[in-house]
Amino acid sequence: MIRTENLTRDFGGGRGLHGLSMHIPKGKIFGYIGPNGAGKTTTIKLLCSLYRPTAGRAFINGIEVTPANAGKIKAIVGYMPDNFGVYDQMSVWEYLDFFCAAYHIPVRQRESRIRSVLELTRSQQMIDYQVASLSKGMTQRIGMAKTLLHDPEVLILDEPASGLDPFARIEMRKTILRLRDLGKTIMLSSHILPELAGICDLIGILEKGRMLAFGTVDEVSKKVKENLKLTLILDSDSAPAKAICENFPGVQQLTATANELHFLFTGVRNSLPDLLNNLIRKDVRIMEMKEEHADLEQVFLSVTHQNS
Ligand SMILES: Nc1ncnc2c1ncn2[C@@H]1O[C@H](COP(=O)(O)OP(=O)(O)OP(=O)(O)O)[C@@H](O)[C@H]1O
Ligand SMILES: [Mg+2]
Repeated sequence: MIRTENLTRDFGGGRGLHGLSMHIPKGKIFGYIGPNGAGKTTTIKLLCSLYRPTAGRAFINGIEVTPANAGKIKAIVGYMPDNFGVYDQMSVWEYLDFFCAAYHIPVRQRESRIRSVLELTRSQQMIDYQVASLSKGMTQRIGMAKTLLHDPEVLILDEPASGLDPFARIEMRKTILRLRDLGKTIMLSSHILPELAGICDLIGILEKGRMLAFGTVDEVSKKVKENLKLTLILDSDSAPAKAICENFPGVQQLTATANELHFLFTGVRNSLPDLLNNLIRKDVRIMEMKEEHADLEQVFLSVTHQNS
């Protein structure tokens, strides 16, 4: 549904995005993660035809993002910028009605469209509020409602949860999941990782304009060096196993009890089976290996650290 080929954008001062090639299938939630200045907004503006690429191409549902196709792209993409203007003097109803007109939604359909986007964003009670009186969290909800007015297939949300309190973040995540259940394809950016954990089908980690890792959270986690806390439970004396582990690359902070080993593993995850093989060949009987799951924060720090 969203596809880029070598998408590149230079600015006077340097490169905003370097050779991005990725594919997000229909109905997936893609979390685009990167520190400040990584190129997230640049990518999003290229996808929404607000920037022209220096090189490469982007496609939404097979339609190339070009100035000639800007109208078609706008019809299928709902874009929520990181900072959007609201018209303080209007009520929420008037604000949404104004954008219905901008999207050329026929007058007789507007009321039902407005009611349906307010319901999707659980903002029905705000319908008569003055836009000027809305809190940050309410403004984000109304911004999301506005983005949904023309029922786009693809949603591109730039930092949708920025500035929200934990409760409002949870509400935003629920809204995003409801939209995926309706079959929408959703790309959302963030530099705050925990807010994406658990809701993304795919994640991409961007730094200095380059995609460092792309895939499911599990896939990305497996590819990178990690700080895994591991425990080995043995059905035998731990001394011989301790000697083997001590000499294995990436094993640190090793401690042993009678039949347990605890250590930090900072090597490549794919080398862990080699460690287990070494142990088994020396007749160490392994009952269990437990690991603390890497969360997105660890993955992010690990990936960006490897490349710094
Ligand atoms: N219009 C512009 N003119 C010049 N440089 C720009 C422009 N837009 C972005 N850049 C540069 O491109 C790089 C990527 O910026 P971008 O805004 O895409 O980052 P970001 O990942 O969205 O960061 P943030 O998390 O702070 O929103 C930065 O170095 C930025 O200074
Ligand atoms: Mg940005």
